[in-house]
Amino acid sequence: MAEETDSRRAETLRTLLHHHAHRYYVLDAPEIPDAEYDRLFRELQALEAAHPELRQADSPTQRVGGAVLAGFAPVRHAVPMLSIRTETDTTPAGAQAFDERVRRELELPGDAPPVAYNAELKFDGLALNLRYEAGVLVQAATRGDGETGEDVTQNIRTIGQIPLRLAGVPPAVLEVRGEVYMRRDAFERMNERQRERGEKTFVNPRNAAAGAVRQLDPAIAAQRPLSFFAYGLGEVQGWAQPPTHSATLDALAAFGVPVCADRAVVLGAAGLIAFHEAMGAKRDALPFDIDGVVYKVDDIALQRRLGFVTREPRWAVAHKYPAQEQLTRLNAIEVQVGRTGKLTPVAKLEPVFVGGTTVSNATLHNVFELRRKGVRVGDTVIVRRAGDVIPEVVGRVAGPRPGYVPNFRIPRGSACPVCGSLVLREKGGIDHRCSGGLFCAAQRKQALLHFAGRRAMDIEGLGDKLVDQLVDGGLIQTLPELYALDVAKLSALDRMAGKSAANLVEGLRRSKDTTLARFLYALGIRHVGEATAKDLARHFGGIERVMAATLEQLLEVHDVGPVVAQSIRTFFDQPHNREVVQQLRAAGVAWPEHEGEADTTPKPLAGKTLVLTGTLPSLTRDEAQSLIEAAGGKVAGSVSKKTDYVVAGAEAGSKLEKARTLGLAVLDEAALRALIDGCA
Ligand code: IVH
Repeated sequence: MAEETDSRRAETLRTLLHHHAHRYYVLDAPEIPDAEYDRLFRELQALEAAHPELRQADSPTQRVGGAVLAGFAPVRHAVPMLSIRTETDTTPAGAQAFDERVRRELELPGDAPPVAYNAELKFDGLALNLRYEAGVLVQAATRGDGETGEDVTQNIRTIGQIPLRLAGVPPAVLEVRGEVYMRRDAFERMNERQRERGEKTFVNPRNAAAGAVRQLDPAIAAQRPLSFFAYGLGEVQGWAQPPTHSATLDALAAFGVPVCADRAVVLGAAGLIAFHEAMGAKRDALPFDIDGVVYKVDDIALQRRLGFVTREPRWAVAHKYPAQEQLTRLNAIEVQVGRTGKLTPVAKLEPVFVGGTTVSNATLHNVFELRRKGVRVGDTVIVRRAGDVIPEVVGRVAGPRPGYVPNFRIPRGSACPVCGSLVLREKGGIDHRCSGGLFCAAQRKQALLHFAGRRAMDIEGLGDKLVDQLVDGGLIQTLPELYALDVAKLSALDRMAGKSAANLVEGLRRSKDTTLARFLYALGIRHVGEATAKDLARHFGGIERVMAATLEQLLEVHDVGPVVAQSIRTFFDQPHNREVVQQLRAAGVAWPEHEGEADTTPKPLAGKTLVLTGTLPSLTRDEAQSLIEAAGGKVAGSVSKKTDYVVAGAEAGSKLEKARTLGLAVLDEAALRALIDGCA
């Protein structure tokens, strides 16, 4: 009876493992975290060990997964690409056990000195064999099943880090083995770009890297930012390999191959444990994912003596860390409002230990991505937490749901969960946003800081620490309340005794005397930057006319398109925003009123685009910009053929160089002033 259950279980495990290996290796779209796959794999291994008659030729335990993709030429490895034993006991006992095994196999007496190991990181990417003949990269191959891999030379050539020619005096044949991986920042940037375009995101850096390496179009592969670290050798001809693994890595580095600096030669179990702990503490701060460390007997002669068991060397082991991906239950989905007003669906999870901490909330990014991933309340989901990146739900485990669960939505016309303002999504946009702006408590701090900014109302003495205190202490809920602050109220705050309080009150008083453009910019209307605020002020001449402008009238303004016009209209359509404007004016905020195009000063730079670079002798960058804009010119951030003048000061860099290459007119401060004063 028990026999039959075991046999059925083995069959189930084989089916599951085949399915997941295909998802992982061939489709690059895994449905379960690695740790879960490993668990199933080990369960089958254990079952087969206890009942050898259950072992079958097609069992996933009998080969090291990964079919050759149609489209890549197969490459037979001159020396098989092996794997290493994994120690899943993440405590120091894991290192202890490995050292004991090595000493036993080498038949070392108890009082023999400790064994020297090279300890390195276990990179979480894709194994690669780089073949150099006479120093030239002739072939790059994936591991495949260890005997035969795929020829991915064209894609690998696009990785800048991998030398196409070795430095120094290269051997006749040198096969470098290592891991191709994607840095976390590159991965996040890539996913962010995908998300902005509403396209499919990658589950983790390893899948993104694997997808790029096996991308059939090298031009697409080239856009995926990959990196590489070497950790060993394949076939070698005409080279006397150094006597230790650590010296071999040094030699590879000298040939110009990337070798990770986080490695050390350590002694005995104590040395291994210390390395495991040190790298564990550093793991989050590393720019790439690791799932453990690798210990290798450093002396190559000892490695030879130890040899191999089946397909794994006796001289090496991978010592794991707690997984950065875990399964848990999605209990609910809530909406959070960020500092910029963006609404993010947040997963409320059954608490789970992942990437070194207990996670109970994780981002789902946006409604569209959530829907694409097909995640619904009640699902078992994969949570990823790596580095200091916010934990995220990367997908769900396939399988039937107990009943119908609707898709999560943010319905049209929803109210912001924080302030009740209308929630909007721009035409064709991905993100939902609260239109409450400074009225919304979630956005209040950001709105206050923006309002007080140097280029907005320029309130001296109002920085982020003070804004935190004012908002958290409940002193300020709306912008106009700023102007009701007095020395008595401020003195109660931290570090605001006497003079600081008086200074801020003075700063507030002075800020009231402003311009319409600064005031419009200070309101923090989405898409209304400084330039647009200036255009609006110039075009309409008064705040009442801006507030009353129809979409058509707004579209008449220079550089204002439909998205910007709609954003301005929405802002002033909200009664609480109009109220804020009235209250600010009642508090004494004022600017010189002028009618329409009242500005009649001459505009010698009208229609001209200038670029500032380097340090000018007497003008700050802001002053130079104001001067240019007052003269009708525009200041751009980078030099192009459309640039009319480049204004260069001391230590001007690449922008000046580019100006020279393009043959543009270059001015110094004196020449700029002369041009504006009309003397040039
Ligand atoms: S040594 C004979 N060193 O982990 C030993 N492998 O099963 C060959 N890996 O697929 C492997 N970092 O791609 C070695 N520092 C490291 C590694 C490493 C990552 C990968 C490798 C292989 C798997 C080991």
